[in-house]
Amino acid sequence: MKRHSLHSKIASLDNTSSEAFKNYKSIVIEQSKGKTVLEIGAGRQPLFSPEELVQYEINYVGNDISQVELDAMPLAVPKYVFDASKDVPADCLDRFDFIFSKMVQEHIEGTPRYYQNLAKMLKHGGVALNFHPVLYAFPFVINRLMPERLSDPLLYALRTDRTRMRNPKFPALYDHCVISRKVRDNLKGQDFSEVVQIPFYGHGYYKSLPMIRNIHRRITDFIRSKGVTVMASFCYTLAIK
Ligand SMILES: C[S@@+](CC[C@H](N)C(=O)[O-])C[C@H]1O[C@@H](n2cnc3c(N)ncnc32)[C@H](O)[C@@H]1O
Repeated sequence: MKRHSLHSKIASLDNTSSEAFKNYKSIVIEQSKGKTVLEIGAGRQPLFSPEELVQYEINYVGNDISQVELDAMPLAVPKYVFDASKDVPADCLDRFDFIFSKMVQEHIEGTPRYYQNLAKMLKHGGVALNFHPVLYAFPFVINRLMPERLSDPLLYALRTDRTRMRNPKFPALYDHCVISRKVRDNLKGQDFSEVVQIPFYGHGYYKSLPMIRNIHRRITDFIRSKGVTVMASFCYTLAIK
């Protein structure tokens, strides 16, 4: 099967997590130019600025499960409050060329239904791109197992760039945040012609712990060189309708 152009673009990236973060916006912009686009879980930090929406002629619609988050969004655009894995508004059906999310899939309860909704909201031939963590990376396993009252303060201590007001932490479930054929088949079965998972290795959670950071870097280089995808830290999941 011929690769979708978005897949080729992503596959040309160096597969480190820092590349995944650095390039996500330009990849999304490239796919969004002149299109009708929905960002799921855009919240208070949508990917685009008002100037970029004009510059790239993007017909942008924002979504979040939380009215509080959407009220804090600094864009004057159509905004829809709904849980992306429950019923979606009728006027969002068959409407979008492209739907994307960044650090949202791990918060979704019922990921197959979420992909079913993505397929319903996309036009024929549309594509969805979800950028999310992969559960087997150690900090995410801890986050999954630990009660929120313990993991919240730990995250804010390790990641001083994150605060409750700027980039707050939301409860994470990591449903279908695993790289495997079973997950791809399950998501593809929600009315997509193709689902691809592109792994990215490494993460910045040990930034403030120099010894662990160095050991982690060596282990990451090893699993990356061997292509141990289940041990990747982040993933772009691309779904083509
Ligand atoms: C970690 S934040 C990411 C926000 C933004 N995308 C970013 O990159 O900074 C996760 C966002 O997803 C939203 N969210 C969580 N579950 C959701 C769901 N089921 N449907 C829609 N949005 C959801 C949260 O309210 C929050 O705004």
